[in-house]
Amino acid sequence: MRISLFALSFLFLSLGVSISGDVNSLLKQKGCLSCHDVEKSKVGPSFKVIAKEYKDKKGAADTLVQSITGGSVGKWQGLANKYGIKITAFYMPRQAVSKEEAAKIAKWILSLE
Ligand code: HEC
Repeated sequence: MRISLFALSFLFLSLGVSISGDVNSLLKQKGCLSCHDVEKSKVGPSFKVIAKEYKDKKGAADTLVQSITGGSVGKWQGLANKYGIKITAFYMPRQAVSKEEAAKIAKWILSLE
C-alpha cells in the first residue's frame, strides 16, 4: 500500500512536469489520461503524435475540438502505421467536455513539440 501510494504520487508528479496546470486538471478530471498520455501512445495516440499530425494543417484546432466533443472513428488506424505507433482502440467516444474546454485542450495539444 505504502509503495503503491508512493508510485502513484510519483506518476502524478512526473505528469505535472509535462502538462501545464489548467489543462492538466482538465485532462485528469475528464478521464482523458486513461486512454492518452503526452509521450506514449496507449489506447489512443499520444498528444505529441497528434500535435505532429495536425500542427501544420489548416483548421487543426477546430478539427480536434470536433473530435473531442463529437467523437472520432477510424482516423488513427492508418496514422498509427504512418507514425509507427500502436494504439488499442479504433474509436474515441464523444467526450463530456464543453466546446470551450475542448478548445483549450486543442490549443495546448497543438503547442506540443
Ligand atoms: C476510451 C478511450 C479514450 C478516452 C477516454 C479519450 N480518448 Fe481521445 N482518442 C482515443 C482513440 C482510440 C483515438 C483515435 C480515434 C480515431 O482513430 O479516430 C483518440 C483520438 C483523440 C484525438 C485526435 C482526434 C483526431 O481528429 O485525430 C484527440 C485530440 C483526443 N483523442 C483527445 C482526447 C481528449 C482531450 C480526451 C478527454 C476529454 C480524450 N481524448 C479521451 C481514445 C480515447
